[in-house]
This record gives sequence, structure tokens and C-alpha cells, in this order.
Amino acid sequence: MLVTGGAGFVGSHLVERLLRRGDAVTVIDDLSTGSRPNLALAQSAAPGSGSLEFVHGRLSDTLSAWGRPAASFAEVYHLAAAVGVKLIMQRPVESIENNVAETAALFRWLTSGPGPKPVTLLASSSEVYGKGVKSPFSEDDDVLYGPTTVARWSYAASKALDEHMALACHTHAGVPVVVARLFNTVGPRQIGHYGMVLPTFVSAALAGTDLPVYGDGRQSRCFCDVRDVVIALTDLLAAPACHGRVFNVGSNQSITIADLAGLVCRVLGSASGIAPVPYREAYGEGYEDLRQRQPDLSRISAAIGWSPRIDLPSTIRDLAAALTASPPDMKVSPASSALLSGGAHP
Ligand SMILES: NC(=O)c1ccc[n+]([C@@H]2O[C@H](COP(=O)([O-])OP(=O)(O)OC[C@H]3O[C@@H](n4cnc5c(N)ncnc54)[C@H](O)[C@@H]3O)[C@@H](O)[C@H]2O)c1
Repeated sequence: MLVTGGAGFVGSHLVERLLRRGDAVTVIDDLSTGSRPNLALAQSAAPGSGSLEFVHGRLSDTLSAWGRPAASFAEVYHLAAAVGVKLIMQRPVESIENNVAETAALFRWLTSGPGPKPVTLLASSSEVYGKGVKSPFSEDDDVLYGPTTVARWSYAASKALDEHMALACHTHAGVPVVVARLFNTVGPRQIGHYGMVLPTFVSAALAGTDLPVYGDGRQSRCFCDVRDVVIALTDLLAAPACHGRVFNVGSNQSITIADLAGLVCRVLGSASGIAPVPYREAYGEGYEDLRQRQPDLSRISAAIGWSPRIDLPSTIRDLAAALTASPPDMKVSPASSALLSGGAHP
């Protein structure tokens, strides 16, 4: 199994699930936002099962230097990307290039070379729906973006282009593909550096400082535990009837951001307050936010019988525990130590 972006937040939980299954897993990750401790945690949670090879490098560079055919993998999970609106707005050129060119490189590699094509999952995003006002969002809904002069829409557009590429390779190049549109995904190992709301709130509550709530706090989102999400990802890929299709993956339980701040404080017994932050201070002038974003889960439920199981208070407690614990060391097999040191790939 190949996991791009496997040292990241969602990727490391996926790796953990695959290792528990007993799979041989190869991760390609440039550690731009991911980390070795994430992989060490995945390994230590699945002791003695499966095997892990870690290739430290940019995806496109690694694939072009590799000489390893796509057919040597049964499944490919493509998670490597510049993630989150804040990161995209801070580093737009690099992020657009990362999301578009790196995915193109992966599909070029998948479609070239001899042998059967691995079944491939593209991790897309609910951002693809843009600022449509219909609720909940269904997979075949029209999408609505703001103008190209507003930088935040570049994340949505880049992910939409990735979806087109994946679905075109399914139809025209024989790569069995599943597109998973992830809604807000939360849980242990997520960090707040790139504007992710729950780790930011949990860190503040643990530190006893005010929780920064953007805008009026009445915008709502649905938060799904990453450990539920990775079950959906593997089960979607394992079901041939899902290939060539797009699926929403997330929770359909909505909560406002102000209520989320209150819930975090209650669950963690924190006396922190709330600090309102205007959008222009958080993101700069002209930022457009969405009032709500909720997935219609009927398609995924009918296809694989999936629905989220872990409730938000449990996720908050586990995230708090993870943020206060120190990570274990990563176990390195002799075969992968050269790759780990970065010797084989830039
Ligand atoms: N976390 C969420 O709420 C969420 C929501 C919607 C979609 N997604 C999608 O899920 C996927 C994983 O997101 P995440 O939250 O785990 O983010 P993350 O930043 O933790 O993971 C991305 C990983 O990809 C790696 N990476 C980035 N560009 C790379 C490149 N060119 N070559 C090699 N490695 C590279 C990073 O180092 C990181 O480990 C992304 O595709 C993202 O768009 C996540």
C-alpha cells in the first residue's frame, strides 16, 4: 500500500489502520506539515503488525527518481497536499502548485508503466463545494466559488481540479479511483499551526488562555473524528462498486464555533474565556467565510454502511491527551533507514 502524505494528521491514522490490518505500507512525505513522531505513534499503536517503509521526499521528485512501477502497489491513498485555507492564503503560489502539479505527477506515474493499475483514493475536501448555500451538500450538487481575485478560493479550485484529474484517469486511463470529500476532520495528532480550529481551542483551554473565535462565532461546522474517517477511506477503496465515484466523508452533526469553544472548556474543565477575532485580523481584508457546511451522508451510508461513531467530547478528551503527551521514537527497519535519513531522495 502506498500512502502519500502519510506522516500527516489524517495520513498517520490511515497508516495505523493499514498496519493493524497487517499490510506492508510505504509512505512518501516531505515533512512540510507532517512529522516523524506521527508515524512513530502509528507504529506504536499497531505493534508487531504490518511493516512500514518511509520515504522522505517530495512526491513528484520521489516518483520520478524511483523506477518502481505503480503496479507494485495494490492500493494508493493520495493525501499529500497543502491543507487548510490559512496555509493556502499565507503561501498561495507554493500551495496551488503543490495541490495541482503533485497530483498530476501521481496520476502520470499511475497511468504509465506496465501491469494492473492500483485502486487509488484521492483525499479531496468539502471546500470543493465553495460557497453554495444549499444544506446539506450532496456529491452531485453544483459548486459556487468567489472570484479569482479572492485567494481563499484557490484551495477549492485546486482540489476540484484534482477530482477532475482523478475521475478522468478512471474513465480514460483504467485507474480505479475513489474521490473522498473530507469535511472537518479532527482528533489526536492534529495541530493548530495552520488555522485548524479544534487543536487551537484545546491548546488554549489547556493553557488557560482565551479561545480565539473568528467572526461572530455563529458559523457552524460538522466535526468528524479522524479514526472514523480512515475506516471510511479503506472501506470505500475495498468496494469495487464505489470506484469512479465521489463520496462525502464526515459527520452530519452541526455545531457553531462559539458552542464548540464552550464545549471544549466544559469537557476539559477549563476556566478559559472566549476572545472574538475579526476575520480581517485572522485572514486579512476581503475574507469570505461560509455560514454552514454539512454533508449529506446518504450516498456513503448506502454504499458501505458507514457512519461516524466517536462523539465530539471523546475526540476533545483524546486530542487534549495527545497534546500533553510526548511522542514515542520511531522504529526504523534497516531497509528503510537510508530513506529515513533522506539519502535516497531530496
Ligand atoms: N484535516 C481536515 O479536516 C481535512 C479536510 C478536508 C480534506 N482534507 C484532506 O486530507 C488530506 C490530509 O490532510 P491532513 O489534515 O492530514 O493535513 P496534513 O498537512 O497533516 O497532511 C498532509 C501531508 O502531506 C505532506 N505533503 C504535502 N505536500 C507534499 C508533497 N508535495 N510531497 C510529499 N508530501 C507532501 C505533508 O508533509 C503532510 O504530512 C489532504 O489531502 C487534505 O486536503 C483534510
